[in-house]
Amino acid sequence: MPVVHVGGDHTPAPTTHAGLVAWVQEVADMVQPDRVYWVNGSEAENKALTDELVDAGTLRRLNPETFPNSFAAFSDPADVARVEEQTFICSQNERDAGFTNNWMDPSQMKEKLRGLFTGSMRGRTMYVIPFVMGHLDAANPKFGVEITDSAYVVSSMRIMANIGTEVLARMTELNAEYVPALHSLGAPLAEGETDVPWPCNSEKWIVHFPEERSIWSFGSGYGGNALLGKKCYALRIASVMARDEGWLAEHMLILKLTSPENKTYYVSAAFPSACGKTNLALLDPTIEGWKVETLGDDITWMRFGDEGELRAINPEAGLFGVAPGTGWLTNPNAMRAIAKGNSIFTNVALTDDGGVWWEGMTAEVPDHLTDWQGNEWTPASDKTAAHPNARFCTPIDQIDMLADEFNDPNGVEISAILFGGRRKTTVPLVTQSRDWTNGIFMGSTLSSETTAAAAGEVGRVRRDPMAMLPFIGYDAGDYLRHWITLSSKADQERLPKIFLVNWFRRTADGGFAWPGFGENSRVMKWVIERLEGTADAVETPIGYVPTGASLDLTGLDMTPEEVDAAVRVDPEEWAAELQGIQEWYSRFGDSLPAELQDQLTGLKERFAH
Ligand code: PEP
Ligand code: NA
Ligand code: MN
Repeated sequence: MPVVHVGGDHTPAPTTHAGLVAWVQEVADMVQPDRVYWVNGSEAENKALTDELVDAGTLRRLNPETFPNSFAAFSDPADVARVEEQTFICSQNERDAGFTNNWMDPSQMKEKLRGLFTGSMRGRTMYVIPFVMGHLDAANPKFGVEITDSAYVVSSMRIMANIGTEVLARMTELNAEYVPALHSLGAPLAEGETDVPWPCNSEKWIVHFPEERSIWSFGSGYGGNALLGKKCYALRIASVMARDEGWLAEHMLILKLTSPENKTYYVSAAFPSACGKTNLALLDPTIEGWKVETLGDDITWMRFGDEGELRAINPEAGLFGVAPGTGWLTNPNAMRAIAKGNSIFTNVALTDDGGVWWEGMTAEVPDHLTDWQGNEWTPASDKTAAHPNARFCTPIDQIDMLADEFNDPNGVEISAILFGGRRKTTVPLVTQSRDWTNGIFMGSTLSSETTAAAAGEVGRVRRDPMAMLPFIGYDAGDYLRHWITLSSKADQERLPKIFLVNWFRRTADGGFAWPGFGENSRVMKWVIERLEGTADAVETPIGYVPTGASLDLTGLDMTPEEVDAAVRVDPEEWAAELQGIQEWYSRFGDSLPAELQDQLTGLKERFAH
């Protein structure tokens, strides 16, 4: 039974974890909710919560025939994406936040936040969600507790993480440390005031205290701002833990590939938000004899094991994928997972028969929809039906191609790491780095055109080191140095090979230079054959690219010359790129590792010769 405390009486809590009980009491005293509710994570509880959310108008129940146990939410139009401008790393010293993060003095920030949180849950329920990122039976389970006044957050966190009674019992048994993660919509209700479907505040603060390992999020109900186990914990706070404890918390997917000879390889890959991580993670190969399975689509924790091998796990339990562009043609594995139900959609369009739709979901566009803002929509409308950052939130175990190893707390050994961005020019389809440090250089200079996943301009090229720009919880130069020094723990023979990929290069006539999606299995095959030492490559100043003949083009309407164009290293484009990298590196000041400056010097020299 969930323990429900009504009024001002917040005891007894369903745990003897004294630190946790004290924190919950302290928060309750500050935010002054109507009641405190400890989330148990059960099916019955989730049913009650979603029923309430339907009554409140936050969720729309979808047609149970086509989308069983699934719901659609429509946010406030000003609360649709992560707010990077309002995201802060409040380390004790400003230097430790680095130039890629917003910083404010932690005590000043606390004071500001205490002001905002005081009374912020009046008229609402304060939910306490015990959760674990990664495995509950890991050697060192990574616990968290999110306090929130949003039932939508509770229901979404239930999909994205392991939450509830079992987690709390284990935390209690171990008297474990946990990351306190405090979230409020910042929309208290006065006595008798009626609620809006998507409460939030025009003022938003997403704040991390790295030394304290705590998170305070105010004003937004949206995914990455509010589901605090995900970006805030599993990337920003975890990256700081990883720095201190000697591991890596990365913005990566994990793929398992099995060759026709039945050899298996695990690959991790980092791409910025909305650049196809979920599509690659759920790759449906177009080449004969290759099998692809997935372990994760967004976040990867990696550490060197006892034998110097790099081991990886996915700390999440669900997908929080960008819906537009996810469809039966581009990502049938995601569509099959979604079709099993148990999903929450946000800012998608509704079909007339109680289903959902978004751009790219089906080849045929419906004649009539209700768009994400509740307006009538037809193909003649000049706006998209779904918001470009509309999302599906779906349990990962609904993916048919989920690898069994997903459930192994020891994870899998990574053989190759891919870094990728969205670039119209300059960056070849695939390039193998010269060695590990050269691969870190590639990752550190990764660049991509901005997308709708974050508020702000779309389509501007920005540097995004390891696709972690919005997620590094400390100084970016220290982060790159951590990547370099960590490999001293590796068996050099087993160090993963590093590759740079770009599915988004354009030809002179504006079309894509490479078809992408399932055809990316051909690139993965080349990557594996490079590991095995069987595929040809051409050495260029930036690294090794495929020869026209070394990529398997069987059944693909593409000539070796077109492949050459997709992998071309154009000296003029690279002259501009070197300039861009130079400018990027100058922003690090003296925190840039000397090894990476040397890499840039070496690259310039190779182009000069
Ligand atoms: C999010 O925006 O809520 C989110 C999870 O971000 P991303 O697209 O980077 O995964
Ligand atoms: Na769960
Ligand atoms: Mn992401």
